[in-house]
Amino acid sequence: MSASFPLSRFADGTATRVEVDGVAVAVVRIQERVLAIADTCSHAAVSLSEGEVWCDLLQLECPKHGSAFSLVTGEPDTLPATQPVEVFQASVQGDTVVISGGPS
Ligand code: FES
Repeated sequence: MSASFPLSRFADGTATRVEVDGVAVAVVRIQERVLAIADTCSHAAVSLSEGEVWCDLLQLECPKHGSAFSLVTGEPDTLPATQPVEVFQASVQGDTVVISGGPS
């Protein structure tokens, strides 16, 4: 699975929810770098892209209970979530962001 999006859709320091072949993905832009993890929290059906981005730590914090998920590994670095979310491959190619499935 893969999909392309204009880089301008993603504001620096924020998370944006996109759909890739019907799967909700939280895409985080940190300057010219883009990372992507599954958008649904592993603790409950909450959209992680509504949460806060911690750029220095490369984490996305769940807006409901505050688990901070690593944008690199998908692992929750803090409780209450204990299960990881899927990590997607994300790359910037010119003015385009390409998201593809599978562990990166
Ligand atoms: S719903 Fe995300 S930590 Fe509880």
